[in-house]
Amino acid sequence: MKANCWTGRNSVEVRDVPDPSLLNSRDAVVRVTSTAICGSDLHLLDGYVPTMQSGDIMGHEFMGEVVEVGPGVDTGRIRVGDRVVVPFPIACGACASCRAELYSCCENTNPNAGIAEKIFGHPTAGIYGYSHLTGGFAGGQAEYARVAFADVNLLKIESDLTDEQVLFLSDVLPTGWMGADMCDIQDGDVVAVWGAGPVGQMAMDGARVLGAEEVVAIDKEDYRLDMAAAEGYTTIDFEEVDVRSALLEMTGGRGPDKCVDAVGLEATHGAPHVRMYDRGKQAVRSGTERPHALRQAVMCCRSGGVVSVVGVYGGLMDKFPAGAWMNRSLTLRTGQCHVQRYLDRLLGLIEEGTIDPTRVITHRMPLAEAPHAFELFKNKQDDCEKVVLTP
Ligand SMILES: NC(=O)c1ccc[n+]([C@@H]2O[C@H](COP(=O)([O-])OP(=O)(O)OC[C@H]3O[C@@H](n4cnc5c(N)ncnc54)[C@H](O)[C@@H]3O)[C@@H](O)[C@H]2O)c1
Ligand SMILES: [Zn+2]
Ligand SMILES: [Zn+2]
Repeated sequence: MKANCWTGRNSVEVRDVPDPSLLNSRDAVVRVTSTAICGSDLHLLDGYVPTMQSGDIMGHEFMGEVVEVGPGVDTGRIRVGDRVVVPFPIACGACASCRAELYSCCENTNPNAGIAEKIFGHPTAGIYGYSHLTGGFAGGQAEYARVAFADVNLLKIESDLTDEQVLFLSDVLPTGWMGADMCDIQDGDVVAVWGAGPVGQMAMDGARVLGAEEVVAIDKEDYRLDMAAAEGYTTIDFEEVDVRSALLEMTGGRGPDKCVDAVGLEATHGAPHVRMYDRGKQAVRSGTERPHALRQAVMCCRSGGVVSVVGVYGGLMDKFPAGAWMNRSLTLRTGQCHVQRYLDRLLGLIEEGTIDPTRVITHRMPLAEAPHAFELFKNKQDDCEKVVLTP
């Protein structure tokens, strides 16, 4: 089959690779009908998330048709022929974390738990196409993919919603939603979202649905801010204005009630000397993060507010404003998305038309053009917001 493989830093290639097959009794094989490129793929592409190996198949946002199931799969839930969306974190459904709906912290699905434990203190769940740190699972930017614990994880689509309407249930929609959900939004809240990429846009929609009075989008890409403005959100271009002053002005000097970091470790900064400081540390591996958005969110958030972090971080962070966080009673909440927790509700919101995740799709391409698609998405060329690839 064809698959998009990581072949080294800043390089992916569509290659012929062996078809996947069942390894465990509760596996299934899915024929991928649609797949996407996520901001998290960029951290792998750039080599910021370690433990990628040349030839690894990328992709953790995918859906398709079940073509084979193992003998242990509960066929009351999943059968050959089902149309399914595949959540990116692999849950076993039975461990303490899964029972607490902390699916991305599943204790049973990462065969490389030892590596994860060294880096994170405790292991985290297996994730498709997301380095050997999360299990080395082959990803879904491919014609076929093996999926684990099929009867626990796969979301069956039984209505006639299109692939594009449901594909992002695999990741960016629940991730953005969780960013908003962790804010515990109250009536009248102003919610500021750093990053107007696909995750940020979904967080903005989530904040609106969950009752925010005003949603503010912060980015530097005009076309991404325009996309947010078209939904009625207020926008701030961080290269044009001082973000903190602008936010204080909007909120009577108090700051936004809730702040979402939908940027993560590859943030950039309007001021070159600040940008260079973190870049330099990353380059010599003395720091792993460029946490400009997170630092700013903490400094801007009103006292007693919530900073909700869905942007990905990988290791150790320098100059985290711990004083502001502690002295002003801020709550910091975060996590890789517990996708499975939100699926029923979000599918319902798509069905009733309250949320339309297709609004972020700007590019549709065949899987064969994945390397070009990565280039457009990474470099924000051709006003690229979100690419859907078709095998
Ligand atoms: N927690 C999870 O489960 C989960 C799931 C999916 C993605 N993510 C992460 O969410 C983040 C966003 O993903 P995406 O797909 O939207 O990526 P993206 O790269 O398309 O979007 C990031 C946006 O942040 C903007 N940005 C950069 N520096 C900024 C700053 N200082 N202030 C404000 N905006 C800034 C960029 O211009 C860009 O538009 C990534 O870190 C990704 O890895 C997390
Ligand atoms: Zn992702
Ligand atoms: Zn589990």
